[in-house]
Amino acid sequence: VTDSTVYYTVVADEGTSRFFQNGKSTETLGYNGNLLGPMLELPKGKTVVIDTINRLDEPTTFHWHGLVIPAEMDGGPHQAIAAGDRAQVRLDIDQEPSTLWFHPHPMGATAEQVYKGLAGLLYVTDDAQSGLPNDYGVDDIPLIVQDRLFTKDGELDYDAHMNVDGTTGDTILANGAINTTFDVQTETLRVRLVNGSNARDFDFTLSNGENMTQIAADGGLLEQPVSLKTISLTPGERAEVLIDFSEIEDDVALEADGVSFTTFRVGELDKASIDIPTSKKTPTPVNTKTDRQLTLFGMGNMVSINGDTYDPDRIDIKVKQGDTEIWEIENKPDMMGGMTHPFHIHGVQFRIISRDGNPPADYEKGWKDTVAVAPDERVKIELTFTETGTFMYHCHILEHEENGMMGQLNVT
Ligand code: C2O
Ligand code: CU
Ligand code: CU
Repeated sequence: VTDSTVYYTVVADEGTSRFFQNGKSTETLGYNGNLLGPMLELPKGKTVVIDTINRLDEPTTFHWHGLVIPAEMDGGPHQAIAAGDRAQVRLDIDQEPSTLWFHPHPMGATAEQVYKGLAGLLYVTDDAQSGLPNDYGVDDIPLIVQDRLFTKDGELDYDAHMNVDGTTGDTILANGAINTTFDVQTETLRVRLVNGSNARDFDFTLSNGENMTQIAADGGLLEQPVSLKTISLTPGERAEVLIDFSEIEDDVALEADGVSFTTFRVGELDKASIDIPTSKKTPTPVNTKTDRQLTLFGMGNMVSINGDTYDPDRIDIKVKQGDTEIWEIENKPDMMGGMTHPFHIHGVQFRIISRDGNPPADYEKGWKDTVAVAPDERVKIELTFTETGTFMYHCHILEHEENGMMGQLNVT
């Protein structure tokens, strides 16, 4: 036991939650509580030991989405923990400060377990970010945004509402609550947006039409902060934004697809002095030759990657540790036109090199682990494999992943 080891316990369990819209309670799942989970701080350079305990009545896994760690610690479908069992993971944290998250990944039950409430936050932290708001819950808040559909009795009924193209709902939850209010205390608020929905893309806007400043993408800071009216996130993606309240006197709401779901109440504000570090990287030329082509295809239960559906006994891609590759991910439309697939890879953070031959937008110039690929689009990414073992890559529409839109990458 040394100072550089941090310990956590995370228990997946059943619970009961009451949603205010209807005042009725429903069965939910949560980590260390009734719904969602804690924020686990992962200091860069330290070792984090997590005791994971499964108190569900079925297998689950604990997947650390976005963490660059060996496959045996990754919590993918191969690391199932039986009902009532426990396992310990040891994570050496060596990546950029960022907003990551954790969720279950068991074969066949990922979508349902996430829908019922299993998701938590991971913050990779580092002193290099001391110039940013980082007082948790005060000037630095997470918003895990999810859509859900409740039955007339106010219940979350996954089986009744399951859709093969992704289970969606008409109610937006932020951190598991409907219509939340946050009292803003400082001029600049850092909001960590996590699209934790099973399938829905969100466009986030402010109700006063003002811009937000995006400072980070999935895996860390952008090369330059970007001022944006709309922040778009597909399932699994994250963005860190700064919202400036210094000129605002009234309440402002954060909207998802035009529907307000979190209200910021603005009172007396403390001054903020912000210093935004940036993370420059020499861009890889857009015309760099492609090492590997991945074709995403289909909808519903007819989805595939390179014509195949997931087979736990088949390795689809083999690479060597330390290799850097350029992948081109293509979304081939079908007769119906197809749909956007958020493509996610475990065990790496990558850079987007191009979209349809053009350099990425400024808000995508940073580390990513999930990238939206629209129908007919080709996205090139550059990735370096630093960790060994068998990792998943898949569509983060969780029902597509369940339907087999997933492959395996082996790093030796
Ligand atoms: Cu966020 Cu394979 O998952
Ligand atoms: Cu993941
Ligand atoms: Cu998909």
